[in-house]
Amino acid sequence: MATPHISAQPGDFAPAVLMPGDPRRAERIAGQLMPDARKVSDVRGIVGYTGTHEGRPLSVMASGMGQPSLSIYATELYSFYGVERIVRVGTCGGLSPKVAVGDVVIAIGAHTDSAIVDSICPGVRISATASWNLLKAAADAAGEDPSVKIAPVVSRDRFYGNPAEQTERLAGIGTLGVEMEAAALYCIAAELDGQALAVLTVSDHLLDPSQNMSAADRETRFGKALALAVSAALS
Ligand code: HPA
Repeated sequence: MATPHISAQPGDFAPAVLMPGDPRRAERIAGQLMPDARKVSDVRGIVGYTGTHEGRPLSVMASGMGQPSLSIYATELYSFYGVERIVRVGTCGGLSPKVAVGDVVIAIGAHTDSAIVDSICPGVRISATASWNLLKAAADAAGEDPSVKIAPVVSRDRFYGNPAEQTERLAGIGTLGVEMEAAALYCIAAELDGQALAVLTVSDHLLDPSQNMSAADRETRFGKALALAVSAALS
């Protein structure tokens, strides 16, 4: 039976799912990685594909933008489709001089201003952290590549209108990237006994907007993050 937001049938998803935000990127990744990709869901334009990558079952499903949207799809995939691993593969803004546009940030944890961290275990602000086995697999695949950083990111609810002092402070406490989904993914995975990781290409820089990628660049310059995400998902 389908869920309210996913039209696939039980068994239509592989245990490992790559999750970009953008549905068009999901379609492109599926075509790139899986010669036998078939569309298994298309509700509200949030598409999901399943096929095999080098003989291993794999799915790709978009999350849409923001923590509420990702939370819906992650919850339904872990709870109703037998999904075990979700690896977000997306972009983030650079927050700190320690990263440059084009670098990849593997999010060991995700700070957030979202209420989701308060809802998982009432009375405690839980730590939104990556699953060790996926993190290790991605780190091993990255090897000594200096452009791959393993660090905390921040998942904000607002793209616009965030206080500059907060951004500065986040950089001061070692946060390298800003995006809008990872913390929710890590919280939902913890709640539902799933595994999760976010692998993010730095597509723009809050301290130096002259480095920012064009929309076309964002589509093509994230092959490294995708390869690390696949290594983690299929580890
Ligand atoms: N904020 C700022 N820059 C970004 C983000 C974000 O959420 N995602 C990708 N670049």
